[in-house]
Amino acid sequence: TNFSEPWAGYLDQAQVHLSNTSLPRMLLLLVVNIPVIAVALNVVYQMLPRDRSLPPLVFHWIPWFGSAAAYGQDPVEFFKSCREKYGNVFCFVLLGRKVVVTLGPKGNDFVFGGKHTVIAAEEVYSPLTTPVFGKDVVYDCPNEVLMEQKKFVKVSLTTDKFRDYVGMVEDEVTQFMNSDLAFRIFQLNDINEWGAFGSYKTLAEMTILTAARTLQGREIRENMDKGFADLYHDLDHGLTPLHWMFENLPLPSYRKRDVAQEKMSQFYQNILRNRRAGDGDYEDDVMASLMRQTYRDGRPVPDHEIAHMMIALLMAGQHTSSSSTAWVLLHLADRPDIAEQVYQEQVEHFGIPGGGFREMAYEDMRKLPILDAVIRETLRVHAPIHSIMRYVRSDVPIPASLGAPSEDSVYVVPKGYTVLASPSLSQMDPLMWKDANTWDPTRWLDAAGMAAQAKREYDDDTKVDFGFGLVSKGTESPYLPFGAGRHRCIGEQFAMVQISSIVATMLRKIELRLEGPFPKSDYSSMMVVPKEPSLIAYRRRNFD
Ligand code: HEM
Repeated sequence: TNFSEPWAGYLDQAQVHLSNTSLPRMLLLLVVNIPVIAVALNVVYQMLPRDRSLPPLVFHWIPWFGSAAAYGQDPVEFFKSCREKYGNVFCFVLLGRKVVVTLGPKGNDFVFGGKHTVIAAEEVYSPLTTPVFGKDVVYDCPNEVLMEQKKFVKVSLTTDKFRDYVGMVEDEVTQFMNSDLAFRIFQLNDINEWGAFGSYKTLAEMTILTAARTLQGREIRENMDKGFADLYHDLDHGLTPLHWMFENLPLPSYRKRDVAQEKMSQFYQNILRNRRAGDGDYEDDVMASLMRQTYRDGRPVPDHEIAHMMIALLMAGQHTSSSSTAWVLLHLADRPDIAEQVYQEQVEHFGIPGGGFREMAYEDMRKLPILDAVIRETLRVHAPIHSIMRYVRSDVPIPASLGAPSEDSVYVVPKGYTVLASPSLSQMDPLMWKDANTWDPTRWLDAAGMAAQAKREYDDDTKVDFGFGLVSKGTESPYLPFGAGRHRCIGEQFAMVQISSIVATMLRKIELRLEGPFPKSDYSSMMVVPKEPSLIAYRRRNFD
């Protein structure tokens, strides 16, 4: 009939099509379409009604991969745009992990101030740090042990030590500028000619040399130019987002990381053996102080743990300090008027009548408000660590003041999720800071301003002892570049000494100008560093 004819034709065609479609071809079609099916299912899943106690999920196309691209490219912008859509609490998928972000000072408090039995750092950081630092320290041990290890290190970071360190840093920077190729024009002694140095690369070198000379001790400093630098390099290349996501892959960077860790560990343990076998003729440095410590249960600190703590300190202080110092110099190069004020502050405090400068002293360094404001402001705008993460060990409710699904219910972060706070965002939040994106050190000089208030909250009088001495609580401050709570940085004072001594020594010798546009932030490593080339032009001052 008229009606059945088109059908018959269609069925004939389908039969031909099926008989032409062999099994391998069908399988191939299916495989090719799996990603499409997965994306479609993922989108449908996100449109289904959600458990109302779960924070809103950031929309993403690709399952597992989630929002990794947007977060990886510029985490701060990503958080800002999510906040516009979802508020201060939301969840995003990051390479298979479910990450709940809690923004603002209350969000910082939730993550930094959370109970460590529920919200723990170890599970999140250990896959990245343990292969680099080594066994039994930091995140490869119970939190109580980390607290004791922090105490052991902290006892050697005293004012007395800082007094010596200022001169040592000045010395290292001077030697570097007198010998490194980056300062060839400086070495020519010509005050009219301009040269240029790559700020991040140069500061990375200066930072490791100054840390070696001060914290790491004489033996490490003496070996710095030899094999040690290569080992450091291989270890450092094991601290990337890839190594964090996948603890072990059959790639050269992983093999090199593991070989370097073993060699570096042995290197420190050899120093320890030599020190113990010798006649006690070694400096009273961090390692010496660790050799004297015992855990609360009476156990002395084993050599491999001392070695691994030393590696952890080296790595923890390197990119944080070097990128911060590079950003300070880049901003000063961009604002010669402020650089001039920092220079004049040096002249005023350390200038010798008739020319030249006297050596800096720690006590004087602490009374330099302009240099201090410049560093604080740089840490506000360029906090090296943009995301602070913890693993959720059991379901944890989010305080309603942060955000809630309704008036009479709260969000709950399920066990197995990750929580994340971003000091970078609260430090540059236009809702709190005037001209939040502008680098303006003068905001720190206004005693009644927002910055001074944030500083007071950060260094407040409510002191807590988590096992490594009294620290300010500070978890609710919108400004917390060194973190807060039990994981708060113990390198803060050292870093301030190191950064200010490096910057002051350089500014005494050279003028700076920015070469090219101001570099953008590079988020591709674990830290926020200046995008290359981060060139700074310099000209020798007539300082002698
Ligand atoms: C912890 C920042 C320099 C050693 C931290 C944390 C931050 C931070 C934000 C908290 C991490 C978290 O809560 O997950 C900085 C910045 C530095 C700096 C911005 C320089 C500008 C240093 C230096 C050292 C150091 C020079 C070593 C001498 C540590 C240690 C911890 C820490 C041991 C404790 C980790 C923990 O308890 O989990 N730092 N840091 N830092 N930092 Fe620093």
